[in-house]
Amino acid sequence: MNIFTSNLFVRLLVSYLVTVLLGLGVSGLFMSFFTKEFIYETKQEELLRKAKQVNGALQDSNRIDEGKLSLLSFLDRSFEARIWVFNNNGEIIATSMKDEVFIGKSIHPSIVDKVKNGKDVIQELNSSTFEGLDKPMLSVVVPWGKQDELYGGIVLHAPIEGITEAFSNMRETILWATLFGILLSTVMVSYLSWSISRPLKKIERTAAEIGMGNYDRRVEIESTAEIGDLAQTINTLAEKLEAGEKERRRLDQIRNDFFANISHELRTPLTAMQGFLEALQDGLIEDEDARQRYYQAMYQETMHLNRMVNDLMDLIKLENHDLVLSRVPVDVEALLQKVAWMFQQEAKQKKSRIMVQVPSSLPRVYGDRDRVFQIIQNLVKNAVKFTEEGQVTLSAEEDGKYIKIMVRDTGIGISEDDLTRIWERFFKVDRVRTKKNDGTGLGLSIVKQLVELHDGKIEVQSEPGVGTVFTVWLPQINKLDNSKTDKAINF
Ligand SMILES: Nc1ncnc2c1ncn2[C@@H]1O[C@H](COP(=O)(O)OP(=O)(O)OP(=O)(O)O)[C@@H](O)[C@H]1O
Ligand SMILES: [Mg+2]
Repeated sequence: MNIFTSNLFVRLLVSYLVTVLLGLGVSGLFMSFFTKEFIYETKQEELLRKAKQVNGALQDSNRIDEGKLSLLSFLDRSFEARIWVFNNNGEIIATSMKDEVFIGKSIHPSIVDKVKNGKDVIQELNSSTFEGLDKPMLSVVVPWGKQDELYGGIVLHAPIEGITEAFSNMRETILWATLFGILLSTVMVSYLSWSISRPLKKIERTAAEIGMGNYDRRVEIESTAEIGDLAQTINTLAEKLEAGEKERRRLDQIRNDFFANISHELRTPLTAMQGFLEALQDGLIEDEDARQRYYQAMYQETMHLNRMVNDLMDLIKLENHDLVLSRVPVDVEALLQKVAWMFQQEAKQKKSRIMVQVPSSLPRVYGDRDRVFQIIQNLVKNAVKFTEEGQVTLSAEEDGKYIKIMVRDTGIGISEDDLTRIWERFFKVDRVRTKKNDGTGLGLSIVKQLVELHDGKIEVQSEPGVGTVFTVWLPQINKLDNSKTDKAINF
């Protein structure tokens, strides 16, 4: 098994164990080494100091009498160290313990030489350096006597046993600590890995579900900062996907509605024409006048179809941002007069009047002449269409940077609920009742988009039974821009 590709748990566990073992091993090694040194050195120094004290007690003469022997045995007990005294020949002449068997034995000549030269010796004595010694001892040897007169040497030694025992105790402790560390780290790693991998697993599962298109799924975890952030990121992602999906469905719906509406609107005139044609074909209509009326009706229907197709083309262009305005200074009054004249006949049939009210010297609008005409024409067409025996007033005036154009009628009005919907494509108030309305419901949605394309604004106010006012603001030609143009021409 490759540790770098295996799961999080194994990787965490292995790295923890390695760290624990290495850490404890290295520190244990250092500890035992330095402690050993330290304990040895302190012990040696202590022994050396005591040996000098023993010399202080013995240095007045080269003879060891009874009094001095009991002093030695007292010092032995209080220093907890064996004391030997040897003469210049290396022969042991006195020991601190009466039953010791070393009297008469001799000290290694190399040590005796050193001591004769007034040097201290520190050595670990064992059976090879001192025969008859069964246990290894830590020993020091100091010269015996005064500075100018040496009688031999004094040996002080303490068993090493106690020290080594301390070491093996320490090693055991380190071993146990290591075992405990391994156990503890296994438990810790298990918990850690569980606490990391569990939320990750959760996130992964949720992400997979989101990936399958369940955009409403969310990750629910209150976890460490990083994992919490990850969960938050995934949730944000899911939210965006969900919003995108909703928007896509909405647009799909709009498109489907659009096509359904188009089909429906196209079918109506086509069905009518089909009926007229069948009647003419069957030769049922012999009366020439009646036939002419049929032709006239069919002509009306084709006109209507034509208008509708034009409107649809405009809408599609507006939707795709394909419609480009060719902006010029536009004389609004002339357009209002022209439109009023166009609808004069229709208004008269409905016993209505059309009036134009424009102050003299009205600044011009900066816009696309044909499109501004289309805006006004659509509004006036509606006003005339929905007004009987009333008045349609077209007016324009300056309003800040804009020219405010108003189309006011005293017609049937629009209810408050419908007012917000009139800008929708294919929307017509009460489709069944207003049979006289031969429109498709595209006019106002085109008007609104055209006004906005001109950086303008359109508003409507209406009261059922009283009348309706459509107000359009279009930017007037900027005088500053004009002067710039003039200068450019003068150049
Ligand atoms: N001046 C008005 N008075 C009363 N109702 C109006 C007026 N203008 C618009 N409406 C209502 O708003 C609806 C939408 O108007 P819009 O101009 O978009 O469509 P349309 O006139 O029915 O058809 P089209 O303009 O495509 O021939 C109309 O069907 C009508 O119900
Ligand atoms: Mg209309």
